[in-house]
Amino acid sequence: MSAKPEIDDGYSRVASVGEVPRGRGIAVDVDGIEIAVFNVEGEFHAISNRCPHQGAPLYKAGEKKINAEDTWTESRGGVNEDDLTVSCPWHLWELDIESGEHEVSGKCIGTFDAKVVDGEVFVRI
Ligand code: FES
Repeated sequence: MSAKPEIDDGYSRVASVGEVPRGRGIAVDVDGIEIAVFNVEGEFHAISNRCPHQGAPLYKAGEKKINAEDTWTESRGGVNEDDLTVSCPWHLWELDIESGEHEVSGKCIGTFDAKVVDGEVFVRI
C-alpha cells in the first residue's frame, strides 16, 4: 500500500499511471480508507478494496499465484474490460467497477471518483 498522498482539490494523488498496469489494480490508503484502483483500458476506477462477500482484497484480482514447488501459476478473478466488472480473487463474485454493485446478492461496495492529471492518478473520497 502506498504512503499517504497529498491532497489536491479534494483529490489525493495515489499513484503514477505507470504503476497500475492495464487490467490490474493496486491498493492505496486515502485517509484511512482502503481503496483498490484499477486501470481499465487507460481509464482509472476506484472502489473499496474489500469484497462485500468475505472481505477479500479486490486489488489482487487477476494476480498470478505460484505454488510451493514453483511448478505452476494460476490467476483468480480479474478485470473484465468489456463488462466493466472486477471478479473477486477468492470466490469470483463479479462487481460492477462503476457502481460497486454485486448484481446477484444486491450487495454494494463504495466507489470513488478517480482522475488522471499529468500522468498521475488521483482519487477523491
Ligand atoms: S470474498 Fe469475494 S467473493 Fe468471497
